Amino acid sequence: MSTLAVYPGSFDPLTNGHVDIIARGARLFDRIIVAILVNAEKSPLFTLAERVEIARVVFKDLPSVEVDTFDGLLVDYVERRQAHVIVRGLRAVSDFEFEFQMALMNQRLNGKIDTVFMMPAEQYTYISSRLIKEVFSLGGRVHGLVPDLVEERLRQKVSALRKRD
Ligand code: PNS
Repeated sequence: MSTLAVYPGSFDPLTNGHVDIIARGARLFDRIIVAILVNAEKSPLFTLAERVEIARVVFKDLPSVEVDTFDGLLVDYVERRQAHVIVRGLRAVSDFEFEFQMALMNQRLNGKIDTVFMMPAEQYTYISSRLIKEVFSLGGRVHGLVPDLVEERLRQKVSALRKRD
């Protein structure tokens, strides 16, 4: 039986921490679906279409990685896709409490689905999408922390926002 895992998130934007977890997941499972949440935040920096396009380009050479979107309850999506595993990254102890709550809630909602926590490489343990957006918008350097394509898109996005204001 082939193993299928779902790696859910908002990916606004995709970071090298996410990429590292996905690459590790692709080694562990036969297939891994990067499932991008439709309603990530009220006003995400990147539209859903942009987040999907970025992930598809970044993972174009990894055939076992699929990029999809989902809305509603994660466990319903996982069941619909006939997967049994949710992958989540754990960077530090501070992530644990919320992740533990989500994993147990998801387990209660659907006892056939398990959450597997994976640790990113050490150099990515302090990266978050929120910090990337903040640092970049204030002129800080994010090179090496996000895929090159994300860096380019951040540049375009921030200059478009500045022109608009
Ligand atoms: O990128 P994030 O914000 O860490 O991802 C959080 C995500 C998408 C995994 C979580 O918000 C989620 O699963 N949302 C879907 C709605 C849902 O199922 N909520 C109950 C979770 S216990």
